[in-house]
Amino acid sequence: MKISKQAQAIGSSPTLALNDKARSLTAQGKPVINLGIGEPANDAPGGAIRYTIAQLETRQIKYAPTAGTPALRKAIQDYTEKHYGRRPDIKNIIVTVGAKQSLANIFYSLINPGEEVILLAPYWVSYPEMVKIAGGKPVIVPSPTSLVPSLSAIQAAVTLQTKAILLNNPNNPSGVVYPREFVSALVRFCETEDIYLVMDDIYHQLLYEGYQWVSGYSCTSTSIDDGNLVIVNGVSKTYGMTGFRIGWTVGPQKLIQTMTKIQGQTTSGVTILAQEGALGALREGADDVLSLRENMRQNRQLMLDALGNFPGVELVKPGGAFYVLPNFSAYGQNSAELAKFLLENVYVVTVPGSAFGMEGYLRLSYTCPPAQITEAIRRIREVLL
Ligand SMILES: Cc1ncc(COP(=O)(O)O)c(C=O)c1O
Repeated sequence: MKISKQAQAIGSSPTLALNDKARSLTAQGKPVINLGIGEPANDAPGGAIRYTIAQLETRQIKYAPTAGTPALRKAIQDYTEKHYGRRPDIKNIIVTVGAKQSLANIFYSLINPGEEVILLAPYWVSYPEMVKIAGGKPVIVPSPTSLVPSLSAIQAAVTLQTKAILLNNPNNPSGVVYPREFVSALVRFCETEDIYLVMDDIYHQLLYEGYQWVSGYSCTSTSIDDGNLVIVNGVSKTYGMTGFRIGWTVGPQKLIQTMTKIQGQTTSGVTILAQEGALGALREGADDVLSLRENMRQNRQLMLDALGNFPGVELVKPGGAFYVLPNFSAYGQNSAELAKFLLENVYVVTVPGSAFGMEGYLRLSYTCPPAQITEAIRRIREVLL
């Protein structure tokens, strides 16, 4: 078999590989605790279930419009107005298979061969590979210990080939919520330099302890069509609806038209069942978000308490999402080896920081049941100290 060179250059997702290994250890009866997972254990919102069942009962499960149903795009219009302070036109919106397909189709639409996309470490594992699949070159800006990169480091990474900068706020894997000054300086910089700023806001409602998320649109008065902001969001994380696979992009019409063209020639519109489910969540699920956030707030506190007096482990307090990214380099410079050691010896799944451009760190999710968080950190302490 002759697989293409381009495809061979793509790495597989380390989080999915670890989850597979954890599943097989669980099947062997080992007491695995999964701190590697990127989804909360909530029930899907009632509105999502009702709308999906109602659509099923019509027995009309046909092709959906490529860019999304008018009702869901209207609900995304309302959502964007409420959370971002800006009402996009319907033509500024496309519904995709999760936020992942939004990101992939944005890169396919924007990148000419060899053009660069700046990623800020720590970055989400899939970004560099997605950029490569689209024929682009990921350029990584390393992170200082504060985990908030400096604007001057980002500026220094810009070349004539730079097409876009990607900001994920709140951040996976660190949980960092970027301060307003940073976000607005980045928005202004991209506008001046005519670089797209892709803002992955998939965790934007999961915030704790008074941390504030900043809408990109609140940092500019340029219209959506004339501007260079590209917003990615969806129901996977804030509504705990990962399996529905519904995300969306809000951006300039020209970009949305191109993404629609690509989607029309590849996957077509997202399944009508999932679109109806997302519609139910957006219309009726505000309380579900609040209760998920409250659970995550409590879990986060447990995690911070458990890590609080862990000798040698340094931690930037996370303000959002459901991850922490402690520096474990005192216990091993090679994070992949450390994660493997923890999985094989105390059956705790973690994700090596190397997957996010942060060697020496481990990403720990706090989406599992509270008792497991405490027990997992107890086991890690026992084996490392
Ligand atoms: C930062 C970030 N963006 C996008 C995604 C993908 O979201 P979806 O499941 O909606 O495709 C994830 C999922 O882990 C994520 O962490």
